[in-house]
Amino acid sequence: RKSIIRITTGSQSLDELLGGGIETLAITEAFGEFRSGKTQLAHTLCVSTQLPTSMHGGNGKVAYIDTEGTFRPERIIPIAERFGMDAGAVLDNIVYARAYTYEHQYNLLLGLAAKMSEEPFRLLIVDSVIALFRVDFTGRGELAERQQKLAQMLSRITKIAEEFNVAVYMTNQVIADPGGGVFISDPKKPAGGHVLAHASTVRLMFRKGKGEQRVCKVFDAPNLPEAEAVFQITPGGIAD
Ligand code: GTP
Ligand code: MG
Repeated sequence: RKSIIRITTGSQSLDELLGGGIETLAITEAFGEFRSGKTQLAHTLCVSTQLPTSMHGGNGKVAYIDTEGTFRPERIIPIAERFGMDAGAVLDNIVYARAYTYEHQYNLLLGLAAKMSEEPFRLLIVDSVIALFRVDFTGRGELAERQQKLAQMLSRITKIAEEFNVAVYMTNQVIADPGGGVFISDPKKPAGGHVLAHASTVRLMFRKGKGEQRVCKVFDAPNLPEAEAVFQITPGGIAD
């Protein structure tokens, strides 16, 4: 039986909100407005996952699927230095792939699963999980097919988390809430509908605070307290 490993986000307050960090055998989803720090957390996790477990890391490699072209390897360097790690070695342990269509994204997952059966990975990042679906299925009449393909992709991702004891960190976009009513104070909700809601173990909502400050709230989780964490985006990655 595999046991859960918790990987630090770089922020103690965010870790506490999550019960110790992002968990293996689970899918952590982050959604929120642009520049709210979703991709910056992905970069920080690329490094912290490689820390030994005694330092709240996962002692493993990272797989990174980038659908928006926003991964910056040079960003990894100051983050690695902050954690006292060799930046070159850290970069070598990040398997990076850019996806251009939702089919490509799916095939990359198959390839990564093969790699994970050979080497110890502890984190899979998909940034963002839904962007290509929203590009590849544009028409209203295509929504049912899009959701079906999305469900297929998410089931593959869930399998990876469970088979290889990997933490999955995936980002999502926000959409205007057409229903209104429920989201009066902020008429936005995560994209992907019930299919995505069902796949995520933990859903995090990010928003901007003052300056480099960001706020994270656990969204819709019956097993976690309705609390918020404040964190910062620093040169060394996510911090308090
Ligand atoms: P979208 O993908 O556009 O939805 O946004 P996101 O939530 O992924 O935002 P992202 O994580 O890219 O955050 C962007 C913010 O991070 C910027 O507005 C900066 O405030 C901050 N940031 C990015 N790079 C650096 C950096 O090198 N140093 C510092 N201190 N902050 C940075
Ligand atoms: Mg981003």
